[in-house]
Amino acid sequence: MIVTVTLNPALDLTYQVDALVPHGTHRVTTVAERPGGKGLNVATVLHALGEPVLATGLLGGPTGDRVTGLLAGVGVPAAFVAIAGETRRTVAVADRDDATGFWEPGPRVTAGEWAAFTDHFGGLLARASVVALSGSLPPGVPIDGYATLIRLAAAAGVPTVLDTSGEALRHGLAAGPDLAKPNAAELAALLAAPRPVMAATRNTSQPGPAGALGATRAAPSGREVADATVALDHGARAVVVSHGPLGLLALTGQGAWRGVPPERLAGNPTGAGDAVVAALARGLRDRTPWPHLLADAIALSAAAVAAPLAGRIDEDTYRRLLPAVRVSAA
Ligand SMILES: Nc1ncnc2c1ncn2[C@@H]1O[C@H](COP(=O)(O)OP(=O)(O)OP(=O)(O)O)[C@@H](O)[C@H]1O
Ligand SMILES: [Mg+2]
Repeated sequence: MIVTVTLNPALDLTYQVDALVPHGTHRVTTVAERPGGKGLNVATVLHALGEPVLATGLLGGPTGDRVTGLLAGVGVPAAFVAIAGETRRTVAVADRDDATGFWEPGPRVTAGEWAAFTDHFGGLLARASVVALSGSLPPGVPIDGYATLIRLAAAAGVPTVLDTSGEALRHGLAAGPDLAKPNAAELAALLAAPRPVMAATRNTSQPGPAGALGATRAAPSGREVADATVALDHGARAVVVSHGPLGLLALTGQGAWRGVPPERLAGNPTGAGDAVVAALARGLRDRTPWPHLLADAIALSAAAVAAPLAGRIDEDTYRRLLPAVRVSAA
């Protein structure tokens, strides 16, 4: 089974209003609730595809119970560790034009709860084919929390996909995940962060596979390849950078590829990256050749844009677009 890790899940609430007016009072026309958190989106997408999946992470309080109930309602198998703090809510207020988000930070996790989670995670690895680690770390989880989980998985021979941002990403990469999936903004932040000392040496005097792939190419496409190598410099074995409607760029030990959606879809792009991670996790498990894997991720994430709710896919869009995706060497 594919294990998805969500350390900072949420009860995701969407309030629909006619028009959002700052400082005003609004009558909410509908309230929608769904399990929130990037790893839960990955799990929901995989489950919709019929893939065996298990969602894990940390949940607490009545809000955590509500998330557990909503996951059970959509049939996603889950094994979360209970914490004393109350699981957060993420609130989106949607009007006719756009949506405005309010993200609670999440409960503080104690050292004992984090230790209980790492034990629990270690126990799941015997049954795991791939682990997907997604989203932010809640307060109290060490900033190298993902690195700890990646090392545990590697010791058990289980490949990992890491999708997070900022310092959690930088520290997680140092543990050598099999694959990282930053979006363009997350990659830009990584480029601005201090580079590991080893990488600086490699870039200037000993180009590794990534440097050899892209560093000398002309802008603009070569620039993207060169930028993406930063994830490999930090320790990832491969990287897939998502560029919104422009598609995906993969740098791997076997080569570099670019995939572009056959059409630009209107819809809800929130969670499209999580659909990419779902496709990548499945492809890692199946050892799918990279060009096919990228095509699958492009079609699946477009299908996520076409579905109104994050964590859902429009299966007709997926089937229609998959044969039309073109992937080329970067
Ligand atoms: N309008 C669109 N039409 C078709 N495909 C799209 C569109 N927007 C995004 N995609 C696909 O979804 C992929 C992921 O999108 P994006 O780069 O926005 O991810 P993300 O920022 O990580 O999203 P999130 O974290 O909200 O899940 C893109 O690489 C692309 O293939
Ligand atoms: Mg993302």
